Amino acid sequence: MLLDLTQAVEALCNGGVVAIPTETVYGLAGNALNISAVDKIYKAKGRPSSNPLILHFANLEQTEPYVIDWPEPLLKLAQQYSPGPITFLVSKTKAVPNRITAGSDRVAIRFPKHEITHQLLSQLDFPLAAPSANKSGYISPTSATMVEMQLGNKINGVVDGGRCSGGIESTIVGFNGKAIELFRHGLISQEQIEKATGIEVIEKSIISEEHLEAPGMMKSHYAPDTRTILVEDIDAEIKLHKGLEIALISLTPQSITDVAFSITLSKNGGINEIAHNLYSAMFEMDQKNADIIIIEKAPNEGLGKALNDRLKRAVADKG
Ligand code: TXA
Ligand code: MG
Repeated sequence: MLLDLTQAVEALCNGGVVAIPTETVYGLAGNALNISAVDKIYKAKGRPSSNPLILHFANLEQTEPYVIDWPEPLLKLAQQYSPGPITFLVSKTKAVPNRITAGSDRVAIRFPKHEITHQLLSQLDFPLAAPSANKSGYISPTSATMVEMQLGNKINGVVDGGRCSGGIESTIVGFNGKAIELFRHGLISQEQIEKATGIEVIEKSIISEEHLEAPGMMKSHYAPDTRTILVEDIDAEIKLHKGLEIALISLTPQSITDVAFSITLSKNGGINEIAHNLYSAMFEMDQKNADIIIIEKAPNEGLGKALNDRLKRAVADKG
């Protein structure tokens, strides 16, 4: 069900869960201070409770009751890139329920840039906990339709804010007193972070993947149901998989005839356009029920690194 802003505010104030647009991907939002709303988020997604949630705010002032202190380098980044596609791991106060952080003393905080969601957050007197609005392990939604097809009957509704401009999840950073810790690559690049802070950036693995590697749990993330491979040489892989019904996702237009389905992510290889279209293309190709999805790898630099990171998880062994 589509909700307007007023209906979304009402549902959220009543402990409901509502999918909201952001500039990265759609989030599944609920009142972070209401444990029953938080439970509904985990339940709707089928997400393990060991995987913590990001808190969303309209501005820095709103975070005051929830954050012990903002380390100077993260504050600098927040001032330069927020609202925008970057998430900060900072020490939490007792006002943040432990359920939100899965017991960690650091909480993830983000200031989304999408106009409707910014307005929504400005009207609320509680933070919104919002993971990506997909079924746990599946492709993050970049449109209201993608949310409805995955979670439509499990949530109170969706605020339709059009297609997400960015198309992949936010960059996640922390600070260990010496270096910036980069937990997830995203639309704000490592180079931009180094430049803004003048501080070394070190890569860290993200908490969810560590937990998800527990025996019997899915290793894969962002993954289509169809078997998916990530390749550099499209022609060679198509020959290798001759006889199978192939769905091809290429970075730029290709003149390939022997695939059943194909989709192109950009006209001329522009990396922002590729990011913008990637998840919807994966979703569309997964609906075709082909034997295999072949995705062309992005150049491994800047935003391309973030895309390849997601794609590697999308093709990981489902265990
Ligand atoms: O762009 C985004 O960040 C989107 C939009 C909706 O804001 N949200 C998003 O949330 O991608 P989610 O839950 O799908 O991914 C957040 C990641 C998870 O891997 C989670 O483990 C990690 O952030 N995370 C959240 N809180 C954390 C914490 N306190 N400590 C360490 N990792 C945390
Ligand atoms: Mg997610």
